[in-house]
Order: sequence, then C-alpha cells, then structure tokens
Amino acid sequence: MKHVPEKTNPPAVDLGDPELFKRCLVQYGESELFVDTEEWIVHDNPYRRTLRPHVFKYLDFSRPLRWDQILNYTSLSANRTLLTIYEQDFLLLPEQGFEAKRADFAEFYSGRSMALAAVVRPWLERYLFDALEREVSVTGRWTAASLEAYLQDYADSLHREGENKSMAAILGSSNREHAARTLLIQLAGDFLLEASAMGRNVLGNFGPIQSELFKIVIDEYGYGVHETKHSTLFERLLRAHDLDPKPHAYWQFYLTSSLLLNNYYNWISRDHSKFFRYLGAIFQAETAFIHSCAQMAEMLIAVFGRGAEVQYFLEHAHIDRHHSKMVFERIVKPAVATHGESIIPEIVRGFEEAKLLGELAERDFCEQVSWADGGRTFKDLHPGVYAKVQAGVIQPDRQTFVEPRGELSVTHVHDGDELCHIESGVMHFVTGHGRHTVLHAGEGTVIQRNRLHGAIIDSDKCVYTIYSVGDYRACVS
Ligand SMILES: [Fe+2]
Ligand SMILES: [Fe+2]
Ligand SMILES: [Fe+2]
Repeated sequence: MKHVPEKTNPPAVDLGDPELFKRCLVQYGESELFVDTEEWIVHDNPYRRTLRPHVFKYLDFSRPLRWDQILNYTSLSANRTLLTIYEQDFLLLPEQGFEAKRADFAEFYSGRSMALAAVVRPWLERYLFDALEREVSVTGRWTAASLEAYLQDYADSLHREGENKSMAAILGSSNREHAARTLLIQLAGDFLLEASAMGRNVLGNFGPIQSELFKIVIDEYGYGVHETKHSTLFERLLRAHDLDPKPHAYWQFYLTSSLLLNNYYNWISRDHSKFFRYLGAIFQAETAFIHSCAQMAEMLIAVFGRGAEVQYFLEHAHIDRHHSKMVFERIVKPAVATHGESIIPEIVRGFEEAKLLGELAERDFCEQVSWADGGRTFKDLHPGVYAKVQAGVIQPDRQTFVEPRGELSVTHVHDGDELCHIESGVMHFVTGHGRHTVLHAGEGTVIQRNRLHGAIIDSDKCVYTIYSVGDYRACVS
C-alpha cells in the first residue's frame, strides 16, 4: 500500500502568513547593500542596489495590485526588490577591485539573504503578476493550425506597422540625446545580463527542444567568443554613447515597467511550471525585436550622427529573424506535437503577456520623456497650485523636510500628484540621469504621479515642503 504522509499540524512554517512575509521582507532589507546612497550612479559594484528598505514596513504587498496600479510606488519597490532576488541566482563580479568589494560579494550571496529571499519572492511575484494574469484572457479552442496562423499574423503585422512610439518620443524630445540615453539605460537592465533568464531553461532533460533552445542561448553568448557575446556588444554601445557599461550602474533610473519586463522573463523562466508560457513570450520578444532593433539603429544614427555605435542592434535585426523562426519551427511546433494541444493556451498567454508588458514599457517610457522635457512647465505650475494651498482652497497633507548639502533623495514615484515647495535653500530636482531643474527658495514644482524623480540639496541647508495634492489639474482649473 502507498504511504501518504500526514500533514504536520500546525505547519512548521506557515508560508501563507502575511506577517511572516513582512518580517522576512524587512529583515531582507536590513543589509548595507540596499540602503540609500549618496550617489546617482553605482560604480562597478553589482551587489549594491538601493531598495529604500526603510519604506518596506509601510507598504502592503500582501494583496495583489490592480492593473491600474502597475506603475505606483509599491510596484516600483516590489520590482526593484524582486529583480535583486532573481539576480542572486546569477554570478556577477565587478570588473576591478574585488578585494574591496569582497564583503559585499559574500553578503549578496549569503545563506541568510537567500533564505529570506525564498520566503519573500513568491509574495512579490503574486503581488505583481496576478493582475497581469487577470488582464490577459485566453479563450476558445486552439489547434496547432490556429496557433500558427495567429503567430504568423503577428509577425506580418510588424512588417506593416511603421511607427514605433518610443522612437517617435525620442526624435520629438527637446533633448534627443538625453531621451536616447534614457532608453539605452532602460534596456541596459536586461541587455547587460542578456539571456541569463533564458539560461534558466537549458538545464534538465526535455527532449530535442532542449537542444534547440540551447542553440539560441549559444548565439546570445557569442559561441564563447567574448567580443561577440551580445552583452559585450551592448557594453560597447553604451561606452560609445558616454554611458557606464557596468551592470546596474543606473539602477536608480530604471522605470517601473522596465524592471517589470525584466522580472517577467525571470519569473516565467525560473518557475518551470510556466515553461510553455515562456515559449510564447520568447517568440514574441524575438519577433518584435527584428523590427525594433532596425528602428533603434536608425534612431541612434539620427540622434548621434553617422558615428553612432549600432552593431548591437544591426546584429539583432539580423539574428532574431533566425531566432524567431527557430523558436516557432523547432521549439513551439514540436512542443505542441509532443505534449498536445492543451499547452497552446499557455503559449498564447505568454505571448500576450509579453506583448502587453512591452506596450506598458513603451507608454511608461514615452511619459517619462515628456516628464523630463517638461521640467520648466511643471515648475511654472507651482505658483498657481501653491497659491491655492496658501488661500486654503485646497488642504492637502503636507510634510516638511530639512536636509543638508549633498543629501540625496533616492529616485522614487508618488501614487498621486505632489507639490514641492522650497522654503529655503536650493534643490536640484532630478528627472533622469544627468537631468535636473534648479529650485530656489520660494520656487517649486508639480510632481506628476508615477513619474520617476529624485533630488539633491545644493545649499548648506534646504527646507522644503511636499503637499499631496492628489490631482494637480483640479488645482489649476
Ligand atoms: Fe541577443
Ligand atoms: Fe535573439
Ligand atoms: Fe518625491
């Protein structure tokens, strides 16, 4: 007779207990690696990434977010933390000065941190991805033939669609070079570790499709020739456009949607029960990339001139034609033939989810470009809104801060519009890497909800007040 083990009662660890999760999250955050920093850029240290862990205790990750909250602060915080957790699975080494970073290295991969991460991770995944699963619905009866027609139709539609919204936003920006670099920074989060998430899928034993997937991974890794590894090509591209090519140098400037996209691929690759979903997602990515890479190369040349470094994008416009075909012909099709048509809805789900996240990233990026371009406009909105506050027409919550020279507010977003008012001193209000608006005493700016920003004090002391106005448009109408 088969022996079925009895359940331990009470359970040794109740993994469904939100209090346990919260305590583990707060403890996970109690690390030198994750505290606030006094610099905008991380210098060659892949283990240091600010998570603003002092805020963890105020955030509620226990209930999944709604899709309309996907760009709010709790989401940003969850995404920064989750990416850090995922990357504790990858080997990262600094380029130089290992000895001085040895303690960080040991801490990043410590058993303590990994054990806490193991409790925290599923909660953050549920918090972020439940809404995505609800947002995409896959219905109807699918067959191998209808799947092929569906995916082919998508590939054809990319040929027809001319405009790429992100490129249009860059070319229409009042500071095109800054906008282009902002996009490169978003891509760097993923591309400097390119195919690491994919690599999670190559171990094991799953028949001929395993070897086909392995071929794509080998391509991404340049067949073991370091100079042709895709991440190396991207490093060269960053360097050529005056950006630091080390992983996560611009950690503070990743938008929520860029982190989310990166996390999504890690999620579906790490959790092997989502393998078929991964196949749909990777088909979408490889296929969409063929066109977006060609557009990106054109855009870089338009912005930086003929000397722009575009090899990374030209290589992908070429190789991803093959990858898209390989994924479909040698992986998706045989997988359906072997494992049955019941896996198709999962494949379609992955495809749709990846597409939706790509669209979200595009929208988020375009909005951030106009937010950064609008520095003057948002500053000019200050007097009108501040007058309403002074007159008592609106009575928002307020908080006053006193900060010394050089104090840096790590980048973040707010869930509603805010008004920043400088009582005394000088603040540099930062809206992107190397981009800021100077605010003097009596001045201020409207801060748009969900828009990434930070600040640094440029006087011996600065006193400023933040008013939570909710919707600034209601204050100026
Ligand atoms: Fe690649
Ligand atoms: Fe590829
Ligand atoms: Fe803020």
